[in-house]
Amino acid sequence: MSSKKLNTKFVTAGRSKKWTQGLVNTPVSRASTIVFDTVEEKTHATKHRGDKTLFYGRRGTNTSFSFQEAMVELEGGAGCALYPCGTAAISNAILSFVEQGDHILMVDGTYEPTRDFCDKILKKLGVETTYYDPMIGEGIRDLIQPNTKLLFLESPCSITMEVQDVPTLAAIAHEHDIIVMLDNTWSAGVNFSPFDHGVDISVQAATKYIVGHSDVMLGTAVATEALWPQLREQSYLMGQCTSPDDIYLASRGLRTLGVRLKQHEENSIKVAKWLALRPEVDHVRHPAFPTCPGHEFYKRDFKGCNGLFSVVLNRGNTEALTALLDGMTHFSMGYSWGGFESLILANESIANLRTATSPDFAGPLIRLHIGLEDTDDLIADLEAGFERFNKVLSQ
Ligand SMILES: Cc1ncc(COP(=O)(O)O)c(C=O)c1O
Repeated sequence: MSSKKLNTKFVTAGRSKKWTQGLVNTPVSRASTIVFDTVEEKTHATKHRGDKTLFYGRRGTNTSFSFQEAMVELEGGAGCALYPCGTAAISNAILSFVEQGDHILMVDGTYEPTRDFCDKILKKLGVETTYYDPMIGEGIRDLIQPNTKLLFLESPCSITMEVQDVPTLAAIAHEHDIIVMLDNTWSAGVNFSPFDHGVDISVQAATKYIVGHSDVMLGTAVATEALWPQLREQSYLMGQCTSPDDIYLASRGLRTLGVRLKQHEENSIKVAKWLALRPEVDHVRHPAFPTCPGHEFYKRDFKGCNGLFSVVLNRGNTEALTALLDGMTHFSMGYSWGGFESLILANESIANLRTATSPDFAGPLIRLHIGLEDTDDLIADLEAGFERFNKVLSQ
C-alpha cells in the first residue's frame, strides 16, 4: 500500500494519467471488441491480458483498471476482481477456491444470501458448510476438519452486528492452510484493513458505501499476491464482468467516501446514544458501543464506524412495530444501506436466520441506517415512531 494518508488516497487513488488521459475523472470506456493493427500488438495484449491491458471487453477497460487500482490502494492486497454485485463477489470468490469434497466454515451471522448460497449451491456441488458462532474465537479449532478449505468471516455480522476477532481466527486458519475470506462491506474497505489482520481475500458489496448513492449494484474482491492469479482467472472464466458506467459511479463515490463515512459515523453515534436511553430499548448493537458483542475487537482493529447498526427492543409486537414503521418521515424501509439516506427495518425474530447460535433477544430487533440528514430530524422521526408504538401497546 502507498504511504499517502487516507484522505489523500480517496482523492487520488486510481487517477494516474494512464487511465484518466488528463481528465480529472477516469472517463467511461465502453467496449466489447478491442482491435489491434498488428500481430505484435495483439500478441502483447494476449500475453498481458490479466494485467490491466486492453484485450477484450470482458477483461475490462481503462474505467475498470482505474477503479481496480484504486481499490488495491485503499484496501491493500495485490489485485481486485470486479463483479456485478456483492453477492456475485461472495459466491464467485468462494467458488474460485473450493471443489467437490471440500468443507468450509461460515460465520453464523452472515448475510442471508451468503448462507443461501452455501445451503443451496455449494451443497449441490458437494461442498459442505459448518456454521460457527461469530464470537467463537479459539474455539474455531474444534470445527476444523482435514478437508476444511476456507474460513469465511463477516465482521460485523449482518443484522446482529457481532464484531469478530479476525486476527485470532485468521491465525488459526493459517496454521491449517485454510484460506481466510472476509465480507468487509461494513468497513467500506477503509475502516478495517483486512490484510493487516490476516485476511487473504476481502470481499465487498461496493453497492453500499463505495457507490454511496443507492443507485448502482457492484461487487469487489481483493486478494493477496498468492491468491490473486487464481481469483482473477477463475472469476474471468465464470464470466464475471461489470458495466463501465457502474464502475465510473463507484470511482466517483470513492472521492467523497472519507467525508461521507465520517458524517455517517457522527450521525449514527448521536442517534444510537439517544436510542440507548429510550425506555423501549433493551440494548444497542452498534460496534462503537460497549453493548455490542465484540466491541473490544472494534476498538482494537477498526479506524471508525458508519451509519449502520441495530437496536433490540424490550417489548413489542407486529401491530406496534407496524405503527412505528408506517408513519416515518425520514426513514424508509429498504433492503440495503450505505447510501446518503436513512433506512429502517424490523426483525421480529432472527431465530430463522441462525443455526449455530440462538440469540435470545428481549424483543424485536430494528436495524437502522443513519444517513446524512440532520440528526435532530431523525431523532424527532424516531420519537414520533415510539409514540405510535407505545400507543398500540397500551391499547
Ligand atoms: C454485508 C453484505 N454483504 C453483501 C451484500 C450483497 O451485496 P449486493 O446487494 O450488492 O449483492 C450485502 C447487501 O445487502 C450486505 O449487506
